[in-house]
Amino acid sequence: MSFDLVLFGGTGDLSWRKLMPALFQAFRHGTLPEGARIIGVGRDDLTDEHYRELIRTRFDKLDLCKRPSGDEFTRFAGLLEFVSMDLSKPEHYAYLHDKLAQRQADTVVMYLATAPTLFTTIVEQLAAAGLNTPQTRVVLEKPLGHDLTSNRAINHSVGQVFSENQIFRIDHYLGKPAVQNLFALRFGNALFEPLWRREHIANIQITIAEELGVEKRGAFYETTGALRDMVQNHALQLLCAIGMEPPINSHADAIRDEKLKVLRSLKPWTTESLTQDVIRGQYAAGAIGGQPVAGYREEVGVNPNSQTETFVALRTEISNWRWAGVPFYIRTGKRLAGRDARIVVNFRPTPHAIFNSQIGMANSLVINLQPKDGLELHLLAQGQDNRKNSHTLAPVQLDLDFDTRFGGERVGAYERLLLDVIDGRLNLFVRSDEQIEAWRWVEPILTHWQNDTQDPRHYAAGTWGPSATSAMIARDGYCWSEET
Ligand code: BG6
Repeated sequence: MSFDLVLFGGTGDLSWRKLMPALFQAFRHGTLPEGARIIGVGRDDLTDEHYRELIRTRFDKLDLCKRPSGDEFTRFAGLLEFVSMDLSKPEHYAYLHDKLAQRQADTVVMYLATAPTLFTTIVEQLAAAGLNTPQTRVVLEKPLGHDLTSNRAINHSVGQVFSENQIFRIDHYLGKPAVQNLFALRFGNALFEPLWRREHIANIQITIAEELGVEKRGAFYETTGALRDMVQNHALQLLCAIGMEPPINSHADAIRDEKLKVLRSLKPWTTESLTQDVIRGQYAAGAIGGQPVAGYREEVGVNPNSQTETFVALRTEISNWRWAGVPFYIRTGKRLAGRDARIVVNFRPTPHAIFNSQIGMANSLVINLQPKDGLELHLLAQGQDNRKNSHTLAPVQLDLDFDTRFGGERVGAYERLLLDVIDGRLNLFVRSDEQIEAWRWVEPILTHWQNDTQDPRHYAAGTWGPSATSAMIARDGYCWSEET
């Protein structure tokens, strides 16, 4: 199969950090189609050689195991080309058209890793140049729009040019091995399904914590913030994977129909819940790994009086028969105490305690997304010192480390999703109605904040966020998993 990938935003941050390394890994694993071409598109006036050189220097910064050898890079570089384009100029698309027409690849992927404000222009120009052929697939990076209206507008213009099964809206969290494992755990095993409901589950906690700050993306982040950057997409997709009903089969639409139902069932916001159940925070100076780091307002490209949130914690519920009354807590932020993404399912305690030490202790299932990828089942067992007290229980855990078990066979999120695009598999991509529903749900939060004159709550870099986050969950009688 011949294959061309056109990477709009080919000199942007995402291409350097995620896409090129993922394409290289696919190349190394032998999963990129034979004779693939990767055409980077950017504003700069670069030759192919210069572009390859830029990528080589970036690859030098990768972890050693992901870095190509000299020979590997030479072979990979043979796939790379560069086209300089002003994205508003039709003649530049005509040039791209001619370049692609030279070999009429079986599959052409247009990957839009640019600012979302350019999506409409790009797809309209692609259509005007006759580049929306049936062989073409388009990949749209998040954030897809800035709010519900802009999301609808982008989806509408893309929908005028490509059919829904040609559109791959990426959320790289769906490509993470742990998320696919979550689907496998829930729908490939009978064990948990009877327990996966309000009768047995007390609460669910979704944490996506990052140690990194906004790095060089201050200007982008200023107009985005954690709610749009992480909650509207990644965190809600995780919530869907936990909360959805079993799909009727593994086809893309069967899965997406179920996720959509979860999004539609999220408890609507009220003035009271917006005030009590949503916390926005912003990191102040602090320390990460023992090193002092600047506060958000001191970062390059950031307004010194910025109101932008770098942290969000919220409480919601899924209003249906399975989940009514079970709190789902979401928490995500930059410059937190660790890089830690996980979902914790806390089960209800036994209905009657016969061991003294059992009171207040309950089982939990932890789905670790990163840095390690695995499952922990926390149980209670007979304690060690039987002579002193034969009724002492001690927490123990079953620990499944998928990195060790499947190590070498695992592929990273972007690599996995890129291969799915090449094969035309839509299961791990987001449908437009899901996105619309997710925007509809976060919009009242955005509006509430716009009208809120109070600063975001400041938290020192290197902590777990504002203390109000613990108070929010304590109101329900619970605490965050790292506080247990
Ligand atoms: C991206 C966000 O979607 O996800 C970034 O734009 C964030 O701000 C990143 O850092 C986190 O992804 P990961 O895979 O490193 O957890």
